[in-house]
Amino acid sequence: MSAKVIEGKRIAQEIREEIRQETERLKERGIVPGLAVVLVGGDPASAVYVGNKEKTCKEMGFHSEVHRLPEETTQEQLLAVVADLNRNDAVHGILVQLPLPKHIAEKAVIDAIAVEKDVDGFSPQSTGNLVIGDESLLPCTPAGIIELIRRAGVDPAGKHAVVIGRSNIVGKPVAMLLLRENATVTICHSRTENMEAIASQADILVVAIGKPKAIGRRYVKPGAIVIDVGVNRLESGKLAGDVDYDECLDVAGAITPVPGGVGPMTIAMLMQNTLKAAKRKAGV
Ligand code: GUN
Repeated sequence: MSAKVIEGKRIAQEIREEIRQETERLKERGIVPGLAVVLVGGDPASAVYVGNKEKTCKEMGFHSEVHRLPEETTQEQLLAVVADLNRNDAVHGILVQLPLPKHIAEKAVIDAIAVEKDVDGFSPQSTGNLVIGDESLLPCTPAGIIELIRRAGVDPAGKHAVVIGRSNIVGKPVAMLLLRENATVTICHSRTENMEAIASQADILVVAIGKPKAIGRRYVKPGAIVIDVGVNRLESGKLAGDVDYDECLDVAGAITPVPGGVGPMTIAMLMQNTLKAAKRKAGV
């Protein structure tokens, strides 16, 4: 039997519509969620990502500001921009687009963002809050994955979730979120022995390794829900996930496609975090 395809693109659109409607209601009470995005330098891919964030903010009815700074911006100048945004009452979320030019220490900049405005959820304080289960803004891609699992009708409680990949941005936080959802969680990585035997026990398999089509059907338990975080450009120019989608389609119970699976959820969760931060500040 063919797996149910988890339509991230459609689900993200639904969430965006929910956010747009809630924003409309908040505006009647004088609350306008605001997101500031900071882009340093002229990396073309980053410029496209930032443009998409700006466009989505406008669609949501948010206040949106983009600070486009030259490549030669010093770390001190960038820290001063972040400090201004921390003090700016119209701004509820701050996102500094990564990667930054090499002469700037990313960690110093991320650490400087006020925790209540850390809509990326990348800072040590946000990460610590996530680990100990305190209220916090959640990193966008991991939060989007949990939302996809929920909206596919799967409750992670009691299930065996296997996460392949241990990055700070996806693997580690998604494992923590699955644990918070009461799953039994195993993390596999490049040094894991016998990964196939472990992965094929998973009821929920999350793959975030950045290797095209690396995970084939032998890693998938029949009926498992498979979440593919990878976005890899093939020589043919086509995009492929980390999972061999065609091969796994008749083994998995449900699977996310690439593109149109996890990807569109990230920006929807960024909007949700901005809305949350605005509501929290207003005491709603
Ligand atoms: N660069 C690529 N993805 C991201 C993201 O999610 N957040 C930030 N800040 N930079 C990125």
